[in-house]
Amino acid sequence: MFTKKSVTGVIGSGAMGSGIAQVAATAGHKVIVYDNSESALQKAENNLKSSLTKLVEKQKITRDQQTQVLMNIRFVSTLQQLSECDLIIEAIVENLDVKKTVFKELEKIVKETCVLASNTSSLSITSIAAACEKPGRVIGIHFFNPPTLMPLVEIIPGVASLENITTSSKALIDSWGKVTVRVKDTPGFIVNRVARPFYSEALRIYEEGIADIPTIDWAMKEIGGFKMGPFELMDMIGHDVNYIVTETVWKQFYYDPKFKPALSQKRLLEAGLLGKKSGKGFYDYTPGSQTPEATKNKELGQQIFTRILVMLINEAADTLYLKVASAEDIDLAMTKGVNYPKSLLKWADELGIENVIKQLTALKDFYEEDRYRISPLLKQNFILKKAFY
Ligand SMILES: NC(=O)c1ccc[n+]([C@@H]2O[C@H](COP(=O)([O-])OP(=O)(O)OC[C@H]3O[C@@H](n4cnc5c(N)ncnc54)[C@H](O)[C@@H]3O)[C@@H](O)[C@H]2O)c1
Repeated sequence: MFTKKSVTGVIGSGAMGSGIAQVAATAGHKVIVYDNSESALQKAENNLKSSLTKLVEKQKITRDQQTQVLMNIRFVSTLQQLSECDLIIEAIVENLDVKKTVFKELEKIVKETCVLASNTSSLSITSIAAACEKPGRVIGIHFFNPPTLMPLVEIIPGVASLENITTSSKALIDSWGKVTVRVKDTPGFIVNRVARPFYSEALRIYEEGIADIPTIDWAMKEIGGFKMGPFELMDMIGHDVNYIVTETVWKQFYYDPKFKPALSQKRLLEAGLLGKKSGKGFYDYTPGSQTPEATKNKELGQQIFTRILVMLINEAADTLYLKVASAEDIDLAMTKGVNYPKSLLKWADELGIENVIKQLTALKDFYEEDRYRISPLLKQNFILKKAFY
């Protein structure tokens, strides 16, 4: 359905839209970028030029390629100028009503065959598509930040999306050199759902006083092999983004206690201590400030790491159990989307289902909270002595 000649439109020239435009243009497509803010368009054009110049300096691309990418991208200031597009990816503000209005307007302008995609992180694709006369052509194409560097893209068909739209969109994004996974239209899709315990269980351990922040981060890095600890990562993402994602996922799951946000993070948000970008979050980033030392107690570290890991495995198993995505796609998503050191379901096999169940049962028995309920799939695999792979 799509060819090299397919014209890609991007709506929103912010962090995500400008990156997506660069990826599509680098793959050889003509790209038209629209934003309703002139200054955002100007900024995106300047950023694109400097980002390409840096790539030339680092010898990642040639001068000819730089020229070609620049020639492929056109910045426009009216929606009407997207009329020739074969695919349009929307990356505007995360607001359902605004997105619906834009999709409705788009349908009046584009060709019958144009595919309309949203890069939303937390809204339902089905609800965006419901604003359209032809919801079958609407799909989720979810890039990660920054789109030029992160290999993962989640492809999310809504309830009404046509199968050929899903398969051709997936093939197109694969041809852009990305790793695509197919996900059911459910809150958080794969990554923003399965990764929740990485933050929330760490916050719980901290709130209970089992360990301090540097020790939890140390355990996840040194013992778990994660690139960053949960608190370092939350500070880097920013609590305005990370907390809101948690709260949105929790609300969309009808307040399932598994996804309940933590008050300690909410308080940071309320205080404007957003993390690295504001100079302070769980850690202090002001020049000259000292990071407290971790208590490098191996036994405690192992306990912290195991607790967080089994909660991650439990969520990955539940995501598979509820047929949100395949085992391979869940594992790919977590290694390519958030750089986990190992695939979670493979990790479960390595630890042994019996061991995972034992750890989760201990948490469930102790806390007597629904938050620690064990995925039926883990129980099934345990009874049947079955591995994920
Ligand atoms: N930032 C991330 O880490 C990330 C990751 C994945 C997905 N997303 C999703 O991508 C989308 C964009 O996020 P972002 O971080 O690039 O936002 P951003 O604020 O950097 O950029 C949004 C851009 O959209 C423009 N815009 C707003 N309303 C518009 C409208 N009605 N018509 C045209 N342009 C409009 C703004 O001027 C702005 O330039 C959101 O849906 C977000 O959930 C963000």
